[in-house]
Amino acid sequence: MNGKVIAVIQGKGGASKTTTSINLLGGLEAAGYKTILCDMDKDKPDAMNWSAKGTDLKDKVVLITEDNPTKHIEALKNKHDFVLIDVPPNFQGAALKAALLSDLVIIPCAPSEIEIDSLANSSTCAEMANKPFRFLATRVVKNTRIGKALIEQIEKTGVGFKSSITYSTAMIESQSAGTWVGGYAKSSSSTQQVMELVHEVVETVKSLQGDKENVKERILV
Ligand SMILES: Nc1ncnc2c1ncn2[C@@H]1O[C@H](COP(=O)(O)OP(=O)(O)OP(=O)(O)O)[C@@H](O)[C@H]1O
Ligand SMILES: [Mg+2]
Repeated sequence: MNGKVIAVIQGKGGASKTTTSINLLGGLEAAGYKTILCDMDKDKPDAMNWSAKGTDLKDKVVLITEDNPTKHIEALKNKHDFVLIDVPPNFQGAALKAALLSDLVIIPCAPSEIEIDSLANSSTCAEMANKPFRFLATRVVKNTRIGKALIEQIEKTGVGFKSSITYSTAMIESQSAGTWVGGYAKSSSSTQQVMELVHEVVETVKSLQGDKENVKERILV
């Protein structure tokens, strides 16, 4: 196996990095892709704590604490289709390492004036590592000015996902249940949004490598 590495990076704290990572983990697994999530936030391992509360994701999240995690990530790539990395909120240390080790960087952005204004700066890490990146609108409250502004700004960059994730209590409650939203509220619109994102992520990775054979075709749920 030659798994693809996806780093979820955003300099701003509380931008939904961990929520995006956990839901991509659950969604990719549900779509049939063997996936593991590396929590590189050793001071605040939210992804580890999230998965430890439940059963279905418990063995699919690992803590990465090495100064140089290259060998660890390589070993995980050999056993998985996708290796996700969740990092702390800054552009140094773990975030830069994750970007360097990745095939694709996902940059989640929540609707706030600050985040919209600093959208261009959010890609610094991916650019420094010379890696492809995609913006993702998260926590969007539908039919609000700020929600529309975020989606518009992301569209303008030309490197945004078409899918977006709306604000939902199921998303929050799934954390207490220790699972992704599909494990908590299978028929919710949030689960549908996550699965649409999963399709788009898989397609993006395929198009980036230009070799469709390497990412297995699976029947997506
Ligand atoms: N789609 C959503 N709907 C509702 N709440 C959400 C959604 N996504 C994230 N949140 C909430 O937003 C907050 C921040 O999310 P999260 O912890 O994923 O961000 P983070 O970027 O990992 O934060 P940190 O920088 O502290 O690591 C959490 O309280 C989470 O429950
Ligand atoms: Mg986090």
